[in-house]
Amino acid sequence: MDRGELNLSGMLLGAATSSYQIEGAVDADGRGPSIWDTLTKRPGAIADGSDGSVACDSYHRLPEDIDLLQRLGAQAYRFSVAWPRVQPTGCGPANAAGLDYYDRLVDGVLSIGCAPYPTLYHWDLPQPLEDDGGWPARDTVERFADYASLVAGRLGDRVTTWATLNEPWCSAFLGYAAGVHAPGRTDPGAAYAAAHHLLLGHTTGRDAVQAAAPAAEVGIVLNLSPVHPENPAATDAADVVDAVQNRLWLDALLDGSYPAVLRDLDPRLGDPDLVRPGDLDRVRGSADWLGVNYYFPLRIGAPGGEASAVGPLAAAFPGAGEFSFRPRGPRTAMGWEIDPSGLESLLAGLAKRAPALPLRVTENGVACPDDRRGPDGTIEDVDRIDYLREHLAAVARAGATGADVRAYLAWTLMDNFEWAEGYRMTFGLATRDRTPKRSFDWYADLARGVRVPPE
Ligand code: FCB
Repeated sequence: MDRGELNLSGMLLGAATSSYQIEGAVDADGRGPSIWDTLTKRPGAIADGSDGSVACDSYHRLPEDIDLLQRLGAQAYRFSVAWPRVQPTGCGPANAAGLDYYDRLVDGVLSIGCAPYPTLYHWDLPQPLEDDGGWPARDTVERFADYASLVAGRLGDRVTTWATLNEPWCSAFLGYAAGVHAPGRTDPGAAYAAAHHLLLGHTTGRDAVQAAAPAAEVGIVLNLSPVHPENPAATDAADVVDAVQNRLWLDALLDGSYPAVLRDLDPRLGDPDLVRPGDLDRVRGSADWLGVNYYFPLRIGAPGGEASAVGPLAAAFPGAGEFSFRPRGPRTAMGWEIDPSGLESLLAGLAKRAPALPLRVTENGVACPDDRRGPDGTIEDVDRIDYLREHLAAVARAGATGADVRAYLAWTLMDNFEWAEGYRMTFGLATRDRTPKRSFDWYADLARGVRVPPE
């Protein structure tokens, strides 16, 4: 199989990471605390009791990261900028040392012929902003725009492809309703307010980036999941799950409205104190491109189904009532169902709904046991190769039917701090010490357009 057979022509292949998951150096050069520094200190919040204080130490090992990207043949690298490195308290002037790091990162990425894709917010909100109310407070929207303008002012002469937010569903509903992500609050009303302010933040952030860098193309990254009711009794719950996971974001961005079912369930989304006149007009059409992170479909059953890794997350879908998650096999180490056709249907559906909107697969990847070693000690992660190959084939099929998919970024360049799972789950093409796994070599061959022998 090579790029030709996969019909990936014109699509950039690369990898993704995020600041808190790889950088470490949480006290270096004036960085302030983020909500993840705080949550990781809460007993029981992280499965293995770990945190991101060292992680892959990318803040100090940048040349090694660039070298790894070069060996991978990455054509695009999606990383995120840590807000508390740039503004240690979430407002005020830039911390020069923080911006210097991203300046070096962008130059390093460009020096190997790779496109830098920064994401401005991958969940590390400065703690002082959370103390002032966090994303449920409208003031955070303006703070985000100020931060975006500082970053774009520094990097905008060399970066064209920007993303504002990573997976705002996670920030709002895992962070403020289910409480399993930072800031660890369990207040569904706050989650809906956060969702609205995140969307406004995207819009004002995009304006700020384009004020500093007029040619910038600014998108947003959503984690989308096809939702399937497993039986007729689960239809209503599945509709709410779909509305919270997918339509809340897509309807606002594409149509300038919120799903009626959510406005009925949570009056706040219809409350003019929260959703002020004109807000949704600003959100509509505010994405120059859409980033799709895809991991699994959501199959919804009646209550009492089999427990699964996503099972405890029912609280992240407030208003859906009693239901269960029913993932089918095969599943990953995270318990996530493997279903490449879900990615194809998402991309094809988006292409149909918004034909002019360029798409990028900004994350897709798999946690594997990584317990097989070859004679030379290499991690023989053939399960990861299968996963990537099947999902890339799904992207190619969507492309063949007209989806404008510009890039595919594997999650992730190297094993890192996997949020509430700590370091127990490994998604990397390489290990934390930057040793390539077999999948790294396979992906590098694909990126270089070299024929990969059949397994
Ligand atoms: C996504 C996150 C990313 C990573 C993967 C496995 O939800 O954006 O940081 O943790 O899941």
